[in-house]
Amino acid sequence: MLTDTYAKEVRLFGLGSLFINRYLEAFEDKYQTMRRLRGKQAFSLVSWEILGALGNALAFCWIVLQARGGRLTPGNVLLFIQSLTYVQQNLTQLFGEVFSLQEALIYMERLFKFLDSKPNLAIIVLAQPVSRPIRLGIRFNAVSFAYPDGRVALEKVSFTLQAGETVALVGENGAGKTTLIKLLARFYDPTEGEILVDDTNLKNLDLDRWRQQISVVFQDFCRYCLTVGENIAIGNLETLNKPEALQLAAKKAGIADKINRLDHKYDTLLGKQFDGTELSGGEWQKVAISRSEALRDRQGFYSPATIANTHFRRTNGSFRSS
Ligand SMILES: Nc1ncnc2c1ncn2[C@@H]1O[C@H](COP(=O)(O)OP(=O)(O)OP(=O)(O)O)[C@@H](O)[C@H]1O
Ligand SMILES: [Mg+2]
Repeated sequence: MLTDTYAKEVRLFGLGSLFINRYLEAFEDKYQTMRRLRGKQAFSLVSWEILGALGNALAFCWIVLQARGGRLTPGNVLLFIQSLTYVQQNLTQLFGEVFSLQEALIYMERLFKFLDSKPNLAIIVLAQPVSRPIRLGIRFNAVSFAYPDGRVALEKVSFTLQAGETVALVGENGAGKTTLIKLLARFYDPTEGEILVDDTNLKNLDLDRWRQQISVVFQDFCRYCLTVGENIAIGNLETLNKPEALQLAAKKAGIADKINRLDHKYDTLLGKQFDGTELSGGEWQKVAISRSEALRDRQGFYSPATIANTHFRRTNGSFRSS
């Protein structure tokens, strides 16, 4: 709530006191739990300390009695006292370690659960190469998908995208468009059905190669606090030191003129985090779109580069992304 992303709405909707109160409630709740825990810990610590002190006192009494009876030399007395101090220090340290271990054990279950987790994408050792360019197209064959929480997002979806075809997928909010793109980029595998690329199941393709062929501008695309050039090259790192490729990508995405007006052009640092230049929302979108253009340039053909969820709105006779 403290970052600039929230600042506008927090001020506009007067959310300050709402969130401060929520924070205080949460703090109070956690604080009380901590207090109870610390109280219990302090009680057992004090009990041990008292027991230790009693043990010490007994040992000292024994030493004094022995010394008075002439059964211990001054050297022996010194030795016993030093040993006692040493034993006491080590016992305190030991109890401290036991308490830390107890705290660490709370998290062990999570650690083992994490270590036991299975990858949710099957790894194919002898993965098949990805055809470049795609010859036949991409086919969704009765694809169903449920998110790990059980929510069904797609149910028996079938369609074919011909090679080289441009397709707009339009649907209501929550219809499953982004999910479909995520399946295409193989962030998940379908729960049922199959996705075929040139008649090869997507699961059997070399995943890295396949991802290199795909570009997506997500609804919540990332704004990297890097230079403009680097922000574009993120779509295809091979273009990082190729100004012509970056310029072409920017031109195709309609942002080249703006970049040329920036102080250091493609070397201008973006974002406020490191005192860079801030772009408008639409300009950032165009930078994100130019990432997919950077990918197209490498391939020299139109791959299934997908611009997901960039809604276009008509304004004054021209189309603007919104
Ligand atoms: N990570 C997730 N975990 C669980 N459920 C999800 C997740 N992402 C999306 N969903 C659910 O899956 C359904 C489809 O979501 P999806 O994002 O694909 O919709 P969409 O068509 O892209 O919608 P929009 O037009 O609003 O972007 C929604 O009902 C949503 O609640
Ligand atoms: Mg979406």
